[in-house]
Amino acid sequence: MYSRITGTGGYLPDKVLTNHDLEQMVETSDAWIRDRTGIEKRHIAAEGQTTCDLAEHAARRALEAAGRAASDIDLIIVATTTPDRIFPSTACLLQQRLDIHGCAAFDVQAVCTGFVYALGVADKFIRTGTSKCALVIGAETLSRIVDWTDRGTCVLFGDGAGAVILEASEEPGILSTHLHADGSFESLLTVNAGVSQGYDVLQGAGAFIQMKGNEVFKVAVNTLGRIVDETLAANGMKKSDVDWLIPHQANIRIIQATARKLKLPTDHVVITVDQHGNTSAASVPLALDVAVRDGRIKRGEILLMEAFGGGFTWGSALLKY
Ligand code: UT7
Repeated sequence: MYSRITGTGGYLPDKVLTNHDLEQMVETSDAWIRDRTGIEKRHIAAEGQTTCDLAEHAARRALEAAGRAASDIDLIIVATTTPDRIFPSTACLLQQRLDIHGCAAFDVQAVCTGFVYALGVADKFIRTGTSKCALVIGAETLSRIVDWTDRGTCVLFGDGAGAVILEASEEPGILSTHLHADGSFESLLTVNAGVSQGYDVLQGAGAFIQMKGNEVFKVAVNTLGRIVDETLAANGMKKSDVDWLIPHQANIRIIQATARKLKLPTDHVVITVDQHGNTSAASVPLALDVAVRDGRIKRGEILLMEAFGGGFTWGSALLKY
């Protein structure tokens, strides 16, 4: 038994924040942001618009694409670092919005690797026969934890949601998922505040993303290179077997390094970082949805998804679409 993606959906809030807008907010330039990150613009949730709102749009679009009703879903996993509330989980809030009751619903917190983690978990639920039709989502309102006075981070992030319907199938499907973490890197990329530790640990610095960008960059490039090898070896595949790379969209230079490692031309790499910025757990499913809907990704092609983020966490999924 395999799990197979039968529908994708995505949603971006209406408000767009361009690099030129950011020039008015911090000491930066459109040229620097494009050159160092590849980002041109990002979407920002409206006041009062929550992660669950974004997730619901993406979920409904994925259901429609899969030709499924909400009542078919027997598992909901939402990957997010920016849940609506401390509890109930965003997955439970979403379940209620979809007016379905009783199926397992929970959040996964692995920051930018969240969707790949959620996909790996849902795949195991389906392969063991526990679930038949899972709704797997990456959804974020990162703009809520961005320090809009810190030019080192505020130019990078955006809001959005991406969703897939994952169904039991005798045809592959997800071929393998690979999930990793190393908590010894916790200080390089963090929001150093929280429920148990408290929100005032930084004496008013607030609950904002702090990142040692350059150090994160180096580890990300090396780690993603290694996970490409691990994923292909686990499946006895060659680099040339991969039709599409669907990378986490943190920085165009990190994406290009992974594409070079795979010897994949850029027209076989799905790139949305220019339009979306880094939407954390939403970035991989959003990129997948864009390339499925515009007809680039076709049934039967081999897709390699990968992501890297706070924790550090990193992971990959190889699948036959
Ligand atoms: O999604 C989770 C994983 N996250 C990532 O993968 C992010 C990884 N890191 C990165 O993408 C890059 O490190 C950044 C885009 C964050 C930064 O690029 P960089 O090439 O590593 O720049 P840097 O941090 O080494 O800074 C270079 C210079 C510095 O000035 P000095 O010290 O050389 O005078 C910074 O102060 O660029 C300056 N700088 C800026 N200048 C204009 C930093 N941010 C900005 C900015 N505008 N927004």
